[in-house]
Amino acid sequence: MYRFIWNNQKCFFNVWKGLLLFNIRQLGKPFVFKGKIAFIPYFRSMLTANGIYKKYDNLEVLKGVDINIEKGEIVTIVGSSGAGKSTLLHILGTLDKADMGRISLNGQQLELLNGKKLAAFRNKYIGFVFQFHHLLPEFTALENVCIPGWIAGSKKKEVIARATALLETLGLENRLENKPQQLSGGEQQRVAVARALINNPSIVMADEPTGNLDSANAKELHQLFIDLRNKFNQTFLIVTHNEELAKMSDRTLMMKDGVMVNG
Ligand SMILES: Nc1ncnc2c1ncn2[C@@H]1O[C@H](COP(=O)(O)OP(=O)(O)OP(=O)(O)O)[C@@H](O)[C@H]1O
Ligand SMILES: [Mg+2]
Repeated sequence: MYRFIWNNQKCFFNVWKGLLLFNIRQLGKPFVFKGKIAFIPYFRSMLTANGIYKKYDNLEVLKGVDINIEKGEIVTIVGSSGAGKSTLLHILGTLDKADMGRISLNGQQLELLNGKKLAAFRNKYIGFVFQFHHLLPEFTALENVCIPGWIAGSKKKEVIARATALLETLGLENRLENKPQQLSGGEQQRVAVARALINNPSIVMADEPTGNLDSANAKELHQLFIDLRNKFNQTFLIVTHNEELAKMSDRTLMMKDGVMVNG
């Protein structure tokens, strides 16, 4: 499959049996207008945030952040400690509220959601991976992955089948019944990635996902993110201090003193 940009849109075409097959679905929904084929462009932006402000007491942490992420992009946010990266990620991930600003995720305006609706939206559409994986110690790897699926109300057996398949894809087929303390750091982080993916989220948000891993495990996790994007067009927003991860991403945004200094 080949990719190119046309009319500001990512397009794809395949060469199959010597024929050039242009994937018209990438242009939008086709319809006939006055005898000609036209396209309604698909909604492409996965996440858009405008004018995000956040203060803790007198400390202005975010001072008007704008960000836009397209479906299938891997975007990293870098910047010095205290720049406001985690605060921004928590706000974009609905774990915290901005003082001001608008956020749209997968076409949903987040300011319109509260309480149970917001929690349900977060569980269904956003997958989180943190530096410390926050796995539940009393549950097995398989159960840890299944829990967000069961909370979402999906059928128990279907969730188990999907969790098993995800853990197999991540190379953990022999560790399904092990509890977190019986797994290595890299294995625990892969379980956390599987858990983030169980509800087929629109976006995976990760805060220092490799901060606690050695360089070999960190590299494996980076490759995993790239594979998931290539296979499933999964969108990622990753806060990191890891230069290699930033280099492997499609786009790197630099934060300084509560604002984006590029992108
Ligand atoms: N709940 C809070 N209450 C008060 N101040 C906070 C709170 N959370 C964060 N801060 C402050 O906001 C600033 C930005 O914090 P944040 O965690 O977003 O930084 P960061 O860019 O993620 O840094 P690091 O790279 O060290 O993780 C810091 O000065 C921090 O002390
Ligand atoms: Mg942080």
